[in-house]
Amino acid sequence: MPTFTVFKGSEGGKIVKSQTTKPDLTDDQVLIKVTASGLCGTDEHYKGADIVLGHEGAGVVEQTGPNTKFLKKGDRVGWGYEHNSCGHCEYCLTGKEQYCPEREMYGEANLDQGSFASHAVWKESFLFRIPDELTDAEAAPLMCGGATVFNALHSYDIKSTDRVGIMGVGGLGHLAIQFAAKKGCDVVVFSSSDSKKQEAQKLGAREFVAMKGKKELDIGRKLDVLLVTTSAPNDWSLMLPIMAPTGTIFPLTVSFDDFSIPHLPFIQSGITIQGSVVAARNVHRHMLEFAAQHKIKPVLMEFPMTEAGITKAMDTLRDGKMRYRGVLIPQN
Ligand SMILES: NC(=O)c1ccc[n+]([C@@H]2O[C@H](COP(=O)([O-])OP(=O)(O)OC[C@H]3O[C@@H](n4cnc5c(N)ncnc54)[C@H](OP(=O)(O)O)[C@@H]3O)[C@@H](O)[C@H]2O)c1
Ligand SMILES: [Zn+2]
Ligand SMILES: [Zn+2]
Repeated sequence: MPTFTVFKGSEGGKIVKSQTTKPDLTDDQVLIKVTASGLCGTDEHYKGADIVLGHEGAGVVEQTGPNTKFLKKGDRVGWGYEHNSCGHCEYCLTGKEQYCPEREMYGEANLDQGSFASHAVWKESFLFRIPDELTDAEAAPLMCGGATVFNALHSYDIKSTDRVGIMGVGGLGHLAIQFAAKKGCDVVVFSSSDSKKQEAQKLGAREFVAMKGKKELDIGRKLDVLLVTTSAPNDWSLMLPIMAPTGTIFPLTVSFDDFSIPHLPFIQSGITIQGSVVAARNVHRHMLEFAAQHKIKPVLMEFPMTEAGITKAMDTLRDGKMRYRGVLIPQN
Protein backbone atom coordinates (compact mmCIF):
# COMPACT_ATOMS: atom_id res chain seq x y z
CA MET A 1 0.00 0.00 0.00
CA PRO A 2 1.76 3.20 -1.14
CA THR A 3 1.97 5.88 1.54
CA PHE A 4 3.19 9.33 0.52
CA THR A 5 3.46 12.98 1.52
CA VAL A 6 0.76 15.41 0.39
CA PHE A 7 0.15 19.14 0.94
CA LYS A 8 -3.41 20.23 1.65
CA GLY A 9 -5.36 23.42 2.03
CA SER A 10 -7.17 24.12 5.28
CA GLU A 11 -9.81 26.45 6.68
CA GLY A 12 -8.01 29.79 6.92
CA GLY A 13 -5.75 28.93 3.99
CA LYS A 14 -2.71 27.56 5.82
CA ILE A 15 -0.85 24.85 3.86
CA VAL A 16 -0.75 21.60 5.83
CA LYS A 17 1.62 18.68 5.27
CA SER A 18 -0.10 15.31 5.57
CA GLN A 19 0.04 11.70 4.40
CA THR A 20 -2.13 9.65 2.08
CA THR A 21 -2.21 5.87 1.90
CA LYS A 22 -3.70 4.22 -1.19
CA PRO A 23 -4.59 0.54 -1.65
CA ASP A 24 -2.19 -1.63 -3.66
CA LEU A 25 -2.30 -0.81 -7.35
CA THR A 26 -5.15 -2.45 -9.27
CA ASP A 27 -6.20 -2.46 -12.92
CA ASP A 28 -4.46 0.31 -14.93
CA GLN A 29 -3.30 2.36 -11.94
CA VAL A 30 0.17 3.88 -11.97
CA LEU A 31 2.21 5.13 -9.01
CA ILE A 32 4.08 8.29 -9.95
CA LYS A 33 6.91 9.96 -8.09
CA VAL A 34 6.28 13.69 -8.46
CA THR A 35 9.25 15.69 -9.78
CA ALA A 36 7.50 19.03 -10.42
CA SER A 37 4.11 20.68 -10.03
CA GLY A 38 2.79 23.89 -11.47
CA LEU A 39 0.86 26.30 -9.29
CA CYS A 40 -2.34 27.29 -11.11
CA GLY A 41 -4.60 30.25 -10.29
CA THR A 42 -7.34 27.70 -9.57
CA ASP A 43 -5.37 26.30 -6.60
CA GLU A 44 -5.96 29.65 -4.95
CA HIS A 45 -9.71 28.87 -4.92
CA TYR A 46 -9.13 25.61 -3.05
CA LYS A 47 -6.54 26.54 -0.48
CA GLY A 48 -9.31 27.04 2.12
CA ALA A 49 -10.54 23.47 1.59
CA ASP A 50 -9.31 20.33 3.31
CA ILE A 51 -8.13 18.74 0.06
CA VAL A 52 -4.76 17.92 -1.45
CA LEU A 53 -3.76 20.78 -3.74
CA GLY A 54 -2.19 20.84 -7.19
CA HIS A 55 -3.29 19.62 -10.61
CA GLU A 56 -0.33 20.33 -12.89
CA GLY A 57 1.72 17.23 -12.17
CA ALA A 58 4.89 15.89 -13.72
CA GLY A 59 6.88 12.91 -12.57
CA VAL A 60 8.34 9.50 -13.18
CA VAL A 61 6.50 6.17 -13.18
CA GLU A 62 7.56 4.22 -10.11
CA GLN A 63 5.21 1.23 -10.29
CA THR A 64 2.50 0.00 -12.65
CA GLY A 65 -0.74 -1.92 -11.94
CA PRO A 66 -1.58 -5.35 -13.42
CA ASN A 67 -3.52 -4.05 -16.44
CA THR A 68 -1.32 -1.18 -17.57
CA LYS A 69 -0.48 -1.33 -21.26
CA PHE A 70 1.68 1.60 -22.31
CA LEU A 71 3.73 2.84 -19.40
CA LYS A 72 6.66 1.28 -17.60
CA LYS A 73 8.82 2.17 -14.62
CA GLY A 74 10.99 5.20 -15.38
CA ASP A 75 8.70 6.79 -17.99
CA ARG A 76 8.19 10.55 -17.64
CA VAL A 77 4.51 11.47 -17.43
CA GLY A 78 2.23 14.32 -16.51
CA TRP A 79 -1.39 14.72 -15.51
CA GLY A 80 -3.87 17.50 -15.22
CA TYR A 81 -7.32 18.46 -14.02
CA GLU A 82 -9.25 15.35 -15.04
CA HIS A 83 -8.52 11.93 -13.56
CA ASN A 84 -11.28 9.72 -14.97
CA SER A 85 -14.49 9.67 -16.99
CA CYS A 86 -17.13 7.04 -17.76
CA GLY A 87 -15.79 6.08 -21.21
CA HIS A 88 -19.23 5.35 -22.70
CA CYS A 89 -21.33 8.53 -22.73
CA GLU A 90 -21.77 10.79 -25.76
CA TYR A 91 -19.05 13.18 -24.54
CA CYS A 92 -16.52 10.44 -23.86
CA LEU A 93 -17.23 8.85 -27.24
CA THR A 94 -16.78 12.10 -29.13
CA GLY A 95 -13.52 13.15 -27.49
CA LYS A 96 -15.02 15.69 -25.12
CA GLU A 97 -14.61 13.72 -21.93
CA GLN A 98 -14.04 16.85 -19.87
CA TYR A 99 -17.84 17.28 -20.10
CA CYS A 100 -18.65 13.67 -19.08
CA PRO A 101 -21.40 13.70 -16.40
CA GLU A 102 -19.38 11.15 -14.43
CA ARG A 103 -16.01 12.89 -14.81
CA GLU A 104 -13.57 12.96 -11.90
CA MET A 105 -11.88 16.32 -11.65
CA TYR A 106 -9.68 18.29 -9.29
CA GLY A 107 -11.65 19.89 -6.48
CA GLU A 108 -14.51 17.39 -6.87
CA ALA A 109 -13.03 13.88 -6.78
CA ASN A 110 -9.93 12.07 -5.46
CA LEU A 111 -9.45 14.78 -2.86
CA ASP A 112 -6.82 12.73 -1.01
CA GLN A 113 -4.19 13.29 -3.69
CA GLY A 114 -2.87 15.95 -6.06
CA SER A 115 0.37 17.22 -7.52
CA PHE A 116 1.54 19.03 -4.35
CA ALA A 117 2.83 15.71 -3.12
CA SER A 118 5.71 13.27 -3.24
CA HIS A 119 3.65 10.70 -5.15
CA ALA A 120 0.23 10.08 -6.67
CA VAL A 121 -1.74 7.15 -8.08
CA TRP A 122 -3.66 7.73 -11.31
CA LYS A 123 -5.15 5.72 -14.14
CA GLU A 124 -2.76 5.12 -17.01
CA SER A 125 -5.41 6.30 -19.47
CA PHE A 126 -5.37 9.80 -17.93
CA LEU A 127 -1.59 10.23 -18.00
CA PHE A 128 0.43 11.97 -20.72
CA ARG A 129 3.95 11.19 -21.83
CA ILE A 130 6.25 14.21 -21.52
CA PRO A 131 8.07 14.94 -24.80
CA ASP A 132 11.90 14.81 -24.69
CA GLU A 133 12.07 18.49 -25.64
CA LEU A 134 10.53 19.53 -22.30
CA THR A 135 11.92 19.15 -18.78
CA ASP A 136 9.52 17.98 -16.07
CA ALA A 137 9.38 21.52 -14.65
CA GLU A 138 8.58 22.94 -18.09
CA ALA A 139 5.95 20.28 -18.78
CA ALA A 140 4.07 20.68 -15.48
CA PRO A 141 2.39 24.05 -16.25
CA LEU A 142 1.25 22.71 -19.61
CA MET A 143 -0.87 20.06 -17.84
CA CYS A 144 -3.57 22.58 -16.91
CA GLY A 145 -2.59 26.09 -18.02
CA GLY A 146 -1.23 25.01 -21.39
CA ALA A 147 -4.05 22.55 -22.05
CA THR A 148 -6.72 25.13 -21.21
CA VAL A 149 -5.54 27.84 -23.58
CA PHE A 150 -4.55 25.42 -26.35
CA ASN A 151 -8.03 23.87 -26.20
CA ALA A 152 -9.67 27.26 -26.75
CA LEU A 153 -7.35 28.00 -29.69
CA HIS A 154 -7.52 24.52 -31.21
CA SER A 155 -11.04 23.14 -30.74
CA TYR A 156 -13.22 26.01 -32.00
CA ASP A 157 -12.13 26.61 -35.57
CA ILE A 158 -9.83 29.56 -34.90
CA LYS A 159 -7.84 30.45 -38.01
CA SER A 160 -4.25 31.60 -38.40
CA THR A 161 -5.63 34.75 -40.05
CA ASP A 162 -7.68 35.65 -36.97
CA ARG A 163 -6.86 38.56 -34.72
CA VAL A 164 -6.71 37.06 -31.25
CA GLY A 165 -6.82 39.02 -27.99
CA ILE A 166 -5.25 37.57 -24.84
CA MET A 167 -6.31 39.34 -21.68
CA GLY A 168 -4.17 38.83 -18.55
CA VAL A 169 -0.50 37.87 -18.77
CA GLY A 170 -0.29 35.25 -16.05
CA GLY A 171 0.31 31.52 -16.12
CA LEU A 172 -2.40 30.87 -18.70
CA GLY A 173 -1.97 34.14 -20.58
CA HIS A 174 1.77 33.88 -21.20
CA LEU A 175 1.26 30.41 -22.67
CA ALA A 176 -1.74 31.57 -24.72
CA ILE A 177 0.39 34.30 -26.32
CA GLN A 178 2.95 31.70 -27.41
CA PHE A 179 0.41 29.16 -28.70
CA ALA A 180 -1.59 31.80 -30.62
CA ALA A 181 1.55 33.37 -32.12
CA LYS A 182 2.96 29.99 -33.21
CA LYS A 183 -0.42 29.15 -34.73
CA GLY A 184 0.14 32.22 -36.87
CA CYS A 185 -2.53 34.46 -35.34
CA ASP A 186 -2.27 38.23 -34.98
CA VAL A 187 -1.91 38.49 -31.19
CA VAL A 188 -3.03 41.53 -29.19
CA VAL A 189 -2.31 41.42 -25.46
CA PHE A 190 -4.34 43.27 -22.81
CA SER A 191 -2.64 43.66 -19.46
CA SER A 192 -3.28 45.76 -16.35
CA SER A 193 -0.16 47.90 -16.79
CA ASP A 194 2.88 48.35 -19.05
CA SER A 195 5.12 46.24 -16.81
CA LYS A 196 4.81 43.01 -18.86
CA LYS A 197 5.00 44.67 -22.28
CA GLN A 198 8.52 43.64 -23.31
CA GLU A 199 8.06 40.07 -22.14
CA ALA A 200 4.69 39.77 -23.93
CA GLN A 201 6.26 41.01 -27.17
CA LYS A 202 9.11 38.54 -26.78
CA LEU A 203 6.56 35.74 -26.37
CA GLY A 204 4.80 36.70 -29.60
CA ALA A 205 2.45 39.63 -29.00
CA ARG A 206 2.20 41.96 -32.00
CA GLU A 207 0.39 44.64 -30.02
CA PHE A 208 0.19 45.37 -26.32
CA VAL A 209 -2.51 47.39 -24.57
CA ALA A 210 -2.10 48.56 -20.96
CA MET A 211 -5.63 48.77 -19.54
CA LYS A 212 -4.98 50.98 -16.49
CA GLY A 213 -7.08 54.17 -16.66
CA LYS A 214 -8.56 53.33 -20.08
CA LYS A 215 -12.19 54.42 -20.56
CA GLU A 216 -12.36 53.17 -24.12
CA LEU A 217 -10.14 51.20 -26.46
CA ASP A 218 -9.18 51.68 -30.09
CA ILE A 219 -7.09 48.85 -31.53
CA GLY A 220 -7.81 49.30 -35.23
CA ARG A 221 -8.88 45.96 -36.67
CA LYS A 222 -11.21 44.30 -34.19
CA LEU A 223 -10.74 40.95 -32.44
CA ASP A 224 -12.12 37.77 -33.93
CA VAL A 225 -11.32 35.95 -30.72
CA LEU A 226 -10.69 36.97 -27.12
CA LEU A 227 -9.24 34.63 -24.51
CA VAL A 228 -9.78 36.06 -21.04
CA THR A 229 -7.23 34.63 -18.63
CA THR A 230 -7.44 37.19 -15.84
CA SER A 231 -7.95 35.95 -12.32
CA ALA A 232 -10.66 38.54 -11.60
CA PRO A 233 -13.94 39.38 -13.37
CA ASN A 234 -13.69 41.65 -16.33
CA ASP A 235 -15.11 45.00 -17.47
CA TRP A 236 -16.96 43.66 -20.50
CA SER A 237 -18.27 47.10 -21.50
CA LEU A 238 -14.68 48.02 -22.41
CA MET A 239 -14.02 44.86 -24.43
CA LEU A 240 -17.28 44.38 -26.39
CA PRO A 241 -16.78 47.43 -28.67
CA ILE A 242 -13.46 45.98 -29.91
CA MET A 243 -14.93 42.58 -30.76
CA ALA A 244 -15.50 41.94 -34.47
CA PRO A 245 -19.08 40.95 -35.36
CA THR A 246 -19.59 37.18 -34.82
CA GLY A 247 -16.40 37.04 -32.77
CA THR A 248 -15.92 34.60 -29.90
CA ILE A 249 -15.05 35.32 -26.28
CA PHE A 250 -13.64 32.59 -24.04
CA PRO A 251 -14.06 33.72 -20.42
CA LEU A 252 -11.60 31.19 -18.99
CA THR A 253 -11.47 32.84 -15.54
CA VAL A 254 -12.78 30.64 -12.71
CA SER A 255 -15.27 32.52 -10.55
CA PHE A 256 -18.05 31.43 -8.23
CA ASP A 257 -20.06 34.60 -8.98
CA ASP A 258 -22.60 35.22 -11.74
CA PHE A 259 -21.36 36.08 -15.21
CA SER A 260 -22.77 39.41 -16.33
CA ILE A 261 -22.27 41.17 -19.65
CA PRO A 262 -23.94 44.15 -21.44
CA HIS A 263 -26.82 42.47 -23.25
CA LEU A 264 -27.42 44.60 -26.35
CA PRO A 265 -23.89 44.89 -27.80
CA PHE A 266 -23.52 41.16 -27.28
CA ILE A 267 -26.64 40.21 -29.28
CA GLN A 268 -26.29 42.97 -31.87
CA SER A 269 -22.82 41.81 -32.88
CA GLY A 270 -23.69 38.12 -32.79
CA ILE A 271 -20.95 37.42 -30.26
CA THR A 272 -20.41 33.86 -29.04
CA ILE A 273 -19.49 33.44 -25.40
CA GLN A 274 -17.81 30.08 -25.24
CA GLY A 275 -17.38 28.26 -21.95
CA SER A 276 -14.39 25.94 -21.88
CA VAL A 277 -12.68 23.85 -19.24
CA VAL A 278 -9.20 22.36 -19.66
CA ALA A 279 -8.87 19.93 -22.59
CA ALA A 280 -9.87 16.45 -23.67
CA ARG A 281 -6.96 13.99 -23.72
CA ASN A 282 -6.59 13.96 -27.47
CA VAL A 283 -6.32 17.75 -27.56
CA HIS A 284 -3.97 17.63 -24.57
CA ARG A 285 -1.64 15.30 -26.50
CA HIS A 286 -1.70 17.59 -29.52
CA MET A 287 -0.87 20.48 -27.19
CA LEU A 288 2.25 18.69 -25.88
CA GLU A 289 3.36 17.80 -29.43
CA PHE A 290 2.76 21.37 -30.61
CA ALA A 291 4.69 22.80 -27.66
CA ALA A 292 7.62 20.46 -28.30
CA GLN A 293 7.63 21.21 -32.04
CA HIS A 294 7.45 24.98 -31.65
CA LYS A 295 9.64 25.26 -28.54
CA ILE A 296 6.82 26.68 -26.45
CA LYS A 297 7.87 26.72 -22.81
CA PRO A 298 6.52 28.36 -19.71
CA VAL A 299 8.62 31.06 -18.04
CA LEU A 300 9.18 29.65 -14.57
CA MET A 301 9.83 30.65 -10.98
CA GLU A 302 10.85 27.66 -8.89
CA PHE A 303 9.92 27.10 -5.23
CA PRO A 304 10.63 24.17 -2.91
CA MET A 305 7.69 21.85 -2.37
CA THR A 306 7.44 22.38 1.37
CA GLU A 307 4.77 24.08 3.48
CA ALA A 308 6.86 27.29 3.44
CA GLY A 309 7.68 27.00 -0.27
CA ILE A 310 4.04 26.49 -1.29
CA THR A 311 2.94 29.37 0.94
CA LYS A 312 5.58 31.63 -0.61
CA ALA A 313 4.60 30.60 -4.14
CA MET A 314 0.91 31.26 -3.41
CA ASP A 315 1.73 34.65 -1.86
CA THR A 316 3.82 35.54 -4.92
CA LEU A 317 0.93 34.63 -7.22
CA ARG A 318 -1.63 36.53 -5.18
CA ASP A 319 0.61 39.62 -4.99
CA GLY A 320 0.80 39.67 -8.80
CA LYS A 321 4.56 39.03 -8.71
CA MET A 322 4.73 35.63 -10.42
CA ARG A 323 6.69 35.67 -13.69
CA TYR A 324 4.90 33.74 -15.09
CA ARG A 325 4.26 30.29 -13.63
CA GLY A 326 5.33 29.01 -10.23
CA VAL A 327 6.68 25.47 -10.16
CA LEU A 328 7.14 23.48 -6.96
CA ILE A 329 10.04 21.06 -6.79
CA PRO A 330 10.01 18.21 -4.23
CA GLN A 331 12.99 18.32 -1.83
CA ASN A 332 14.33 14.80 -1.61
N1 LIG B 1 -11.28 27.40 -17.67
C1 LIG B 1 -10.33 26.59 -17.28
O1 LIG B 1 -10.29 25.42 -17.66
C2 LIG B 1 -9.23 27.11 -16.39
C3 LIG B 1 -8.05 26.38 -16.23
C4 LIG B 1 -7.04 26.92 -15.46
C5 LIG B 1 -7.20 28.14 -14.83
N2 LIG B 1 -8.36 28.81 -14.99
C6 LIG B 1 -8.56 30.14 -14.37
O2 LIG B 1 -7.93 31.08 -15.22
C7 LIG B 1 -7.56 32.24 -14.45
C8 LIG B 1 -6.09 32.55 -14.67
O3 LIG B 1 -5.29 31.53 -14.11
P1 LIG B 1 -3.72 31.71 -14.03
O4 LIG B 1 -3.21 30.46 -13.41
O5 LIG B 1 -3.20 32.15 -15.32
O6 LIG B 1 -3.62 32.91 -12.96
P2 LIG B 1 -2.47 34.02 -12.81
O7 LIG B 1 -1.15 33.43 -13.16
O8 LIG B 1 -2.69 34.63 -11.48
O9 LIG B 1 -2.79 35.09 -13.95
C9 LIG B 1 -3.90 35.91 -13.88
C10 LIG B 1 -3.57 37.27 -14.49
O10 LIG B 1 -4.74 38.06 -14.36
C11 LIG B 1 -4.35 39.41 -14.18
N3 LIG B 1 -4.88 39.84 -12.88
C12 LIG B 1 -4.42 39.60 -11.65
N4 LIG B 1 -5.18 40.18 -10.70
C13 LIG B 1 -6.13 40.82 -11.36
C14 LIG B 1 -7.20 41.63 -10.96
N5 LIG B 1 -7.46 41.88 -9.67
N6 LIG B 1 -7.99 42.12 -11.93
C15 LIG B 1 -7.76 41.84 -13.24
N7 LIG B 1 -6.74 41.07 -13.67
C16 LIG B 1 -5.94 40.59 -12.73
C17 LIG B 1 -2.84 39.48 -14.17
O11 LIG B 1 -2.40 39.74 -15.50
P3 LIG B 1 -1.96 41.23 -15.97
O12 LIG B 1 -0.87 41.68 -15.05
O13 LIG B 1 -1.50 41.03 -17.37
O14 LIG B 1 -3.16 42.10 -15.89
C18 LIG B 1 -2.48 38.06 -13.80
O15 LIG B 1 -1.20 37.72 -14.24
C19 LIG B 1 -7.89 31.89 -12.99
O16 LIG B 1 -9.16 32.42 -12.69
C20 LIG B 1 -7.95 30.37 -13.01
O17 LIG B 1 -8.75 29.86 -11.96
C21 LIG B 1 -9.36 28.33 -15.76
ZN1 LIG C 1 -5.43 24.80 -13.35
ZN1 LIG D 1 -18.55 9.85 -20.08
